[in-house]
Amino acid sequence: MLIFAHRGASGVAPENTLRSIRTALEAEVDGIEIDIHEVDGKLFVIHDRWLHRTTSGQGQIFNYDYQYLRSLDAGDGEVIPTLDEVLKLIAGKCTINIELKAVRNLTLLFSCIDDAIKTTELLSNDVLFSSFNHRLLHAIQQQRSDFAIGALTACYPLDYAKFAEQLNAYSVHLDVDFISEHFVADAHKRGLKVFVYTVDELEDINAMKHLGVDGIFSNYPTKAKSHIAHLN
Ligand code: G3P
Ligand code: MG
Repeated sequence: MLIFAHRGASGVAPENTLRSIRTALEAEVDGIEIDIHEVDGKLFVIHDRWLHRTTSGQGQIFNYDYQYLRSLDAGDGEVIPTLDEVLKLIAGKCTINIELKAVRNLTLLFSCIDDAIKTTELLSNDVLFSSFNHRLLHAIQQQRSDFAIGALTACYPLDYAKFAEQLNAYSVHLDVDFISEHFVADAHKRGLKVFVYTVDELEDINAMKHLGVDGIFSNYPTKAKSHIAHLN
């Protein structure tokens, strides 16, 4: 079972910051999940479109420019990172799951990834795009089938993992509240990997292992890894 650090090692460091990513890399995770927003022609690594929860700022991220956003404290003196900074840090070390929150300009996104592939050890195989916005995933699939996509859902679909197969996804990413034996079997029958978020409690980790899911997103990847090592 793969371990993805959710928003970096966000249980022990400020989420979606270079510090949380470094901490996750120290834990030798299989992958790191981050969230991105496009603002002022740049791709910022941040989960919310409102600034108050994770930064020293207030208001909506889209009302500000690059310089102002970079002046904010994203926790423990960290700045809001840009996608290229994060790619540079992760390149060659593990999978990067880029969850697209608000991104309109796919050309900008692809050029950021392609630059990193040219200038770092990043491989296109190490990139997994995911989103709750399935139209965006579909557009990525149409334009760049060399990148894997993960179909996110926060619900338990009537026809199980069929929506992910229709998107030609590599994986389906399901909320831990909705996972079931039937869903896992259906996804596997369709050739999809099953990744579950957010799995922090040891009892939940045991249950995911028992269900045979392929990976979990955890805010505490070090704890999750050592627990899984004991299960094996
Ligand atoms: O990608 C898994 C998970 O991060 C999806 O929900 O709201 O934490 O981005 P959220
Ligand atoms: Mg996310």
